[in-house]
Amino acid sequence: MKSHWKLDPEITYLNHGSFGPTPGVVKESQLKWRQRLEANPMQFFVREQEFLLEESTEKLGQFLGCDGKDLIYVDNATFGMNIVANSFPLNAGDEVLLTDHEYGSVKRIWQDYLSPVGAKVVIGNLPDYMENQDQVARSFVEQASEKTKLIVISHVTSQTSVVLPVKKICELAKAKGIAVCIDGPHAIAMQDLNLSQIDCDFYTASCHKWLCAPFGTGFLYVHPRWQGKLRPNITSWGGTMCGREKSWKDEFLWQGTRDLSAFLAVPDAIDFMQQYGLEKFRKQSHELAAYARKRLVEICETKPCCADSIQWYGSMITVPLPDYVPAPTSYTGQPHPLHRALYENHRIEPHVFKWKKSMQLRVSCHLYNDKDDIDRLCESLKLELARKCWK
Ligand SMILES: Cc1ncc(COP(=O)(O)O)c(C=O)c1O
Repeated sequence: MKSHWKLDPEITYLNHGSFGPTPGVVKESQLKWRQRLEANPMQFFVREQEFLLEESTEKLGQFLGCDGKDLIYVDNATFGMNIVANSFPLNAGDEVLLTDHEYGSVKRIWQDYLSPVGAKVVIGNLPDYMENQDQVARSFVEQASEKTKLIVISHVTSQTSVVLPVKKICELAKAKGIAVCIDGPHAIAMQDLNLSQIDCDFYTASCHKWLCAPFGTGFLYVHPRWQGKLRPNITSWGGTMCGREKSWKDEFLWQGTRDLSAFLAVPDAIDFMQQYGLEKFRKQSHELAAYARKRLVEICETKPCCADSIQWYGSMITVPLPDYVPAPTSYTGQPHPLHRALYENHRIEPHVFKWKKSMQLRVSCHLYNDKDDIDRLCESLKLELARKCWK
């Protein structure tokens, strides 16, 4: 499968989870759409684009187990989360509950939107070690108070690579009258997703990670009960240009003139992954991730925060680095020396970062990765740990 990507052959790329490169067929599809736009921009923008986007979201909806009518394309998950934060009705004293595993910028988005209205972000804790899905869901939702109006939760956490029991969390939250917004960039393709069954209020994700769609493709799912209540972050025409039926999506479609070819190529990314076989991809990438986890745990002598099971992690794993690897006490704005050493001395690109108080190593396994990549990482890590490259 490696031949589908134009990765630098000198590099061992193990960070699909942050930035997933696009396979050739999907890049070609995007180029084809762009050429169609360039051939007659009037025809494309005014008469065709809205219908083409409808077809594309319909296909994405089939893939996600929901109606395409409930989806809009956005540039990325950050964009989608900003729409929800900008629109969700909150008053002074209200609370939004996040887990302590949420993505840094998501926490920041909610803090930024909530403080002017006098509402606040509350961080609930997930257990230090997760092995029972029901217990994890219950102990988290129990931390909601009568002031909690919304729960914001990752489907697959970024820093710890854990698959959270979002369906159960939605069920428990609903019983308490609390809405749920799921942050799902790592779940798309990695997990077998059925949004109708999860029954959340909002779900936002980026397709340029595990689904391998072009960079700059994300979506926001909005349950019909919220449609028409969302405000766009960018105000433009707010209506159809081609006589299409009116829809809640109109406010989000025109955001000034922009190139939407990446969104139109999403169905080809879905085809690419489906042709390989999603079940095969999930099984194979999980097995490789499990191999990486086992080897890294042996080297680091540390314990990941979830059980060793496909229920708890998919194609990506995080292993805490040994305590003796120093974690900066404040933001340095620079890669950690171990991160730099792995790249500069070995040309390996995993994700090395601080989470809570210690340094962590995250490894993503996609179709172009194999055991040799993991072995190379392990040997290089052993070497750099032994020579204490941060000194
Ligand atoms: C859990 C989670 N949420 C949100 C984001 C933001 O995604 P994007 O940068 O595509 O907007 C990421 C990115 O890695 C993530 O891991």
